[in-house]
Amino acid sequence: MGALPAGPVPALELDAVCRAYRGGVTALDGVSLRVPAGRMVAVLGRSGSGKSTLLQCAAGLDRPTSGTVRIGGTGLAGLGEAALTRLRRDRVGFVFQSLNLVPSLSVLENAALPLLLAGQGADGRARAALAAVGLADRAEDRPAQLSGGQQQRVAVARALVTEPDVVFADEPTGALDPVSAAEVLALLRHAADEGRTVVMVTHDPVAAAWADEAVFLHAGRIAAHEVAPRAETVRALLHELGRGSDEAPDGWPDLRPGPSPYEPGAGAHLAPAAASRYERSPR
Ligand SMILES: Nc1ncnc2c1ncn2[C@@H]1O[C@H](COP(=O)(O)OP(=O)(O)O)[C@@H](O)[C@H]1O
Ligand SMILES: [Mg+2]
Repeated sequence: MGALPAGPVPALELDAVCRAYRGGVTALDGVSLRVPAGRMVAVLGRSGSGKSTLLQCAAGLDRPTSGTVRIGGTGLAGLGEAALTRLRRDRVGFVFQSLNLVPSLSVLENAALPLLLAGQGADGRARAALAAVGLADRAEDRPAQLSGGQQQRVAVARALVTEPDVVFADEPTGALDPVSAAEVLALLRHAADEGRTVVMVTHDPVAAAWADEAVFLHAGRIAAHEVAPRAETVRALLHELGRGSDEAPDGWPDLRPGPSPYEPGAGAHLAPAAASRYERSPR
């Protein structure tokens, strides 16, 4: 690995990242992005624009065809599978749309999972993480006994339990009612305010307004970039990029299984999207 670049190292850095799939689809076409610590970035774009691919490449769940990804200055391309898995476990947290808790484990065990997989003692930290999302009293329940919003807060607790540098979230509020969505967004916002880096894919302009900046993907390229995004301007930009208001199923979640950060190949995000109409607390 080369010497660290001069100046502060961005928490996350993508440089000319391309990802082509077999069959000729170019999902990412030269994406460059630097995200400093403590910043929350929303990634928007119509269905198929490359949002999930961007997240998976940035998180080390997928390998770019070309270009570089660095987390805290560490280039992912130079890491073997074991080192990459360790980096994901120790320095990265993940929240997906839903269906990513293990039904047979208790809420506490789910929150503790990254620590357990790392062979670390988990109980105290997992209980603290659950308390931080307001679920200390549900530790012994199974996920199915919780509401969708509560389950997603468990997923946030699990993502934060290792105190990661970067938290990735792919449509984390897509399946939630407005109140639950706002609770999850507030937790992600708080994580960023504490100094973590948050990268959140969303198709919801209101959710994007919780972020410090919004990046708009179109056909695998960054087509627009907005600092301190407001829901209205995000909506207008999405419209401009072809996400017409009456256009059919844009904004619906992918039904394709995605990789799980914990057990590669085993994950999926399959829940239906709910329309979200809730507002952020004033900026
Ligand atoms: N595993 C894959 N194999 C082939 N094509 C894929 C695969 N994953 C995604 N794609 C294609 O890459 C493009 C971007 O997909 P994706 O990143 O899932 O977009 P988004 O999350 O914005 O909906 C789409 O054209 C999609 O069909
Ligand atoms: Mg997607």
